[in-house]
Amino acid sequence: MTERADLRAHGPSGILRPGIRTYKPRRTRITERQERAFTEQAPFLLPVDNTPIDFAATWGVGVPVVLEIGFGDGLATASMAATDPSTGILAIDVHTPGVGGLLASLGDASLENVRVMEADALVVLTRMIDPGSLHGVRTYFPDPWPKARHHKRRIVQPDVLDLIHSRLRSDGFWHIATDWAEYADAIQSCFGEHTGWTGGVVPRPPWRPVTRYERRALLEGRSITDLVFHPVEVA
Ligand SMILES: C[S@@+](CC[C@H](N)C(=O)[O-])C[C@H]1O[C@@H](n2cnc3c(N)ncnc32)[C@H](O)[C@@H]1O
Repeated sequence: MTERADLRAHGPSGILRPGIRTYKPRRTRITERQERAFTEQAPFLLPVDNTPIDFAATWGVGVPVVLEIGFGDGLATASMAATDPSTGILAIDVHTPGVGGLLASLGDASLENVRVMEADALVVLTRMIDPGSLHGVRTYFPDPWPKARHHKRRIVQPDVLDLIHSRLRSDGFWHIATDWAEYADAIQSCFGEHTGWTGGVVPRPPWRPVTRYERRALLEGRSITDLVFHPVEVA
C-alpha cells in the first residue's frame, strides 16, 4: 500500500471560508491498476508542500503550462495531453482512484507532459504556483452545488477569480465547461462583476474531449456551455 496524501494535513487554502470545500467526499474503491500506478508512475506524481513548482525544470524552458482543476477519471486529460505534447499539463484532483487512473493512463500511453497532484487545487494555487506563471486553467464540469446554501462551495466565486487572475500570464485563459444552465449564468455574472476579466460563452472547441460527467449530462438531456475568460489589467 502506497502512502496517500492526507488532504487535511495540507491545511486550508485560506481562499474559502474555514471548513468550506469545493469538493465532496467520495468512497469509490481504488482498483489494483490505479493502486499500482502510484508506485510505477511515481515520478509523475508531485508532492504537496510549500515550494513553488519549477515549471522550467519540470516541463522545459518556455513550455506553456496549463492547470486542470478536477480531472475526474483523467481520460480526457490524457487525451488532450496526447494531442498537444508541447503543452505542459498540471492535473489536480482530490479523488484518489481518479489520480491513480490518470497515472495509469499516462503510463499506458507513455505521456511525459503531465504532472499529477492529489490535492485541493486552491491550496496548490496559493502556495505552489508563482504569480503570472500559468498559460491557462481548465475546469471541466465543476461540481455545480445547485442548492443556494451550497453556492459558497462553487469553485467559480470572486476570491477564486482573484487567485487565478494573479497566477495567470497576461495572455492567459480560464476555460470552463458546465452542464448546469443556472451555474453557467452565475459564472457569467461572477466574471462580469469582476473588473479583471473579459470573455464569455464560446462554441464548444472541437479539441475538447467529451468527459465522463459530460457524457452522463448529455444522456440525461442537459446542454453544455463552454466559457473562456482572459485576464485584463485591473485598473
Ligand atoms: C463533477 S466532477 C468532473 C470531473 C471531470 N472533469 C469530468 O468532467 O468528468 C468534479 C471534479 O472536481 C474535483 N474537485 C472539486 N474541487 C476540487 C479542488 N478544489 N481541487 C481539486 N479537485 C477538485 C472533484 O474531486 C471531481 O473529481
